Amino acid sequence: LEPSPETEAHSIDALRQQASQCRRCPLWSEATQTVFGEGSDNAELVFVGEQPGDQEDLQGRPFVGPAGKIFDAVLGEAGIERTAVYVTNAVKHFKFEPRGKRRIHSKPNAGEVQACRWWLAQEVTLLKPKLMVALGATAAQSLLEAPVAITKQRGQTIKRDDGLAVFLTIHPSYILRIRDPQEAAAERARFVADIRT
Ligand code: URA
Repeated sequence: LEPSPETEAHSIDALRQQASQCRRCPLWSEATQTVFGEGSDNAELVFVGEQPGDQEDLQGRPFVGPAGKIFDAVLGEAGIERTAVYVTNAVKHFKFEPRGKRRIHSKPNAGEVQACRWWLAQEVTLLKPKLMVALGATAAQSLLEAPVAITKQRGQTIKRDDGLAVFLTIHPSYILRIRDPQEAAAERARFVADIRT
């Protein structure tokens, strides 16, 4: 981790407060606000996405846009209440390219993921979850500090050197990008099965 001017926080709320002023990478300058993690402070399960999207940036909450709708539905089908878990992202500012009036998602680079790992690491330290769920490759790479091939490794649980267990699955937006309805339904069913696991 980078040396940091922030002091150690003793609660998620205090950490969220610090993160609202984050200048650890340049992404803050174009985004509306920091989108920090939210959910139960006692969560045994912590889900990690990539970065906030357009809706998340505007509302200041993770997974409330189109990918969040799928995520919520899949959690429900797997019998998990969102209020019982904690949901966050590897990168906490929206990175985008302006295209007319629209803002198109742009993938965070390794430096941005590395800079934002400071926050994710502290969320993990404070929450002490039983299991982390990496939604997609960016989350997996941030948590494991190694490249991950989600298509090959999904469904696996990797133990980190510090004992933290990281379950690997797809990002819900992957399902949104599949054009063929049958294939999308099959992938969605696989995702539900992963989350049930
Ligand atoms: N995609 C993510 O990875 N995170 C969000 O919060 C929303 C969409």
